[in-house]
Amino acid sequence: LSAIEDFLTAKAAKTEAALRAYFNTLDDAPESLVSAMEYSLFAGGKRLRPALALGASEIVCGDDTAALPAACALEMIHTYSLVHDDLPSMDNDDLRRGRPTSHKVYGEAMAILAGDGLLTMAFDILSQAGDARVVGEIARAAGAAGMVGGQVIDLESEEKQLDLHALKHIHACKTGALIRGSVRAGAILGGADTQAIAALTSYGESLGLAFQIADDILDVTGDTEAMGKNAGSDEANKKATYPALLGLDRAKSMAEEASQAAIDALQVFDNAADNFRMLARFVVDRQR
Ligand code: IPE
Ligand code: IPE
Ligand code: MG
Ligand code: MG
Ligand code: MG
Repeated sequence: LSAIEDFLTAKAAKTEAALRAYFNTLDDAPESLVSAMEYSLFAGGKRLRPALALGASEIVCGDDTAALPAACALEMIHTYSLVHDDLPSMDNDDLRRGRPTSHKVYGEAMAILAGDGLLTMAFDILSQAGDARVVGEIARAAGAAGMVGGQVIDLESEEKQLDLHALKHIHACKTGALIRGSVRAGAILGGADTQAIAALTSYGESLGLAFQIADDILDVTGDTEAMGKNAGSDEANKKATYPALLGLDRAKSMAEEASQAAIDALQVFDNAADNFRMLARFVVDRQR
């Protein structure tokens, strides 16, 4: 394994063990609902947002323990966003994380409710973890002025020709906000000072943009099998994307630029931030 795969695998294993433990406490929930929640959550996935929360804590204090509940909550919120994103009324996709999408297996009503269950449970976990600043941070990142708002603008922009400024705003909201929030949550929980929080926030913003441009590019050039989701979805939905607006070559150079900006934001840190430097390369070089 490459060093970055090593880092991601280690953080994913830690997160998954903790997520399993949380699910063992769901005794009073309907089994059908718990199954649907688990079906989407324990289906692979890169676990990027947990890796960012855990990694940010590690950079600032040398340890990731304090960020583990937030890492779990972030992955649950992200997974809920995928379940809803795939619904027929949204992107209408039938493959996710290498499996038929939730609504294909459980029906639309259960898919909506499984998403609701994941989102709500995430905030239960966050509340037990007990840092009110982080609860607010993640609520804002996931909410109407963050991910949910971005999903709305994304839908409203189908079949429209946006300018680059408007497109960047969609990406900053629908994907960037939760990625930025993941880094910030980890930084806060690790006890970061103002300067470290500012640097990591800037890293998260650039990384989020690089990540979603790469996602747009993979939708055009990627392999369905490797990605575990169907390529060509954006074109079918006439989405506003970087390749659609700028062409593949310019989209690729903008992803590279954003990745480099993320690396540059880490200048205040020594080699404790090397995993994050590699991660900035990974998000634009990835095939999945
Ligand atoms: C896909 O996210 C949706 C976007 C925000 C672009 P990921 O590419 O992180 O999906 P998983 O978690 O690895 O399945
Ligand atoms: C979705 O963006 C961002 C979310 C908040 C889920 P996409 O619609 O491009 O994500 P994929 O390509 O379906 O994973
Ligand atoms: Mg979408
Ligand atoms: Mg989609
Ligand atoms: Mg996409």
